[in-house]
Amino acid sequence: MKVMKKRVLSGIRATGRLHLGNYLGAVKGMLALQGDDQYETFYMVADLHTITTPYKPDELRKNVREVVLDYLAAGLNPKKSVIFAQSQVPEHVELAYLFSTLVSVARMQHLPTFKEKVKQYPQAVTMALLNYPVLMTADILIYKADLVPVGIDQEPHLEVAREIARKMNERYGLSFPEPQRFATAGEYIPSLTGEGKMSKSVSGSFITLTDDLPTIKDKLAKVPTDEGHGLSIPQEGGVATLLALVELFEGKKKRNSYEEQYTNGGVKYQALKEELADAIHKELEPIQKRRTEFEKDPQKAEQILEDGANRARVVAQETLREVKKAMGL
Ligand code: TRP
Repeated sequence: MKVMKKRVLSGIRATGRLHLGNYLGAVKGMLALQGDDQYETFYMVADLHTITTPYKPDELRKNVREVVLDYLAAGLNPKKSVIFAQSQVPEHVELAYLFSTLVSVARMQHLPTFKEKVKQYPQAVTMALLNYPVLMTADILIYKADLVPVGIDQEPHLEVAREIARKMNERYGLSFPEPQRFATAGEYIPSLTGEGKMSKSVSGSFITLTDDLPTIKDKLAKVPTDEGHGLSIPQEGGVATLLALVELFEGKKKRNSYEEQYTNGGVKYQALKEELADAIHKELEPIQKRRTEFEKDPQKAEQILEDGANRARVVAQETLREVKKAMGL
């Protein structure tokens, strides 16, 4: 008998080229699970989630492509993973509608992610934005995925997904898994500005996977620092960001040695930043080389998405059929 593999689903919004936060928090987990035989992996570009906040159609079209190219460059492999665009599997939307019958408006309004977006775009508090976690739940449960490699900021959404799974199972006798987050070492990447997380919507906060060495140096040079010594290691601000990146790209030992310098003689930030820039660039260089190769064949990304959508739909249609039947539709 063929043993059913556990499934994995993840996605990233198409707001532009991927940055280190996406890479360390999500893509690295996606890669680890793609390489594990126990799992069948589904990785999408969340274009429908992208339009829950104001956007331009032409930019969206371009950005979906940018994310696919970054995925491929980072090592996602269409022979091992199903790579697709969310909007090309319309079953997600239908399942989200069915799930929305179990979710209260108040529950959605109280999510921290919703509140943040309301603050950011007070003129665009739409039904789609309110429904964001329900669509994300459908993305995951339509593949009955057990594991979701995403950053820690997505945990509230996974809680919603588990609640919906439980309710569907109790009320309609279904057997959805309660999906868990697959965490990576870089599950939270702080912003280069020293405030909050690295985010595409905050300029000056991020390094993209395609930044060259001078750009990385330039961006790190702007990270705010202090006089370089003190009684205790800063837990927030630019210095904390630099130390977090040192740990991820140069190792824990290196971080420890800077921390020791901080409480003793003092840290020379210019040297730290130069060395860190080199370490980051060294990790990004092979990704950038692969990207250049994929860019030469513009048809290829299209083909991968088309093939991926066809494969995803086989699974998605089956789940949707099952749910509709159980719900009396
Ligand atoms: N909300 C996720 C983010 O902003 C993107 C996303 C959409 C997602 N659907 C998903 C992530 C399903 C994991 C699983 O990063």
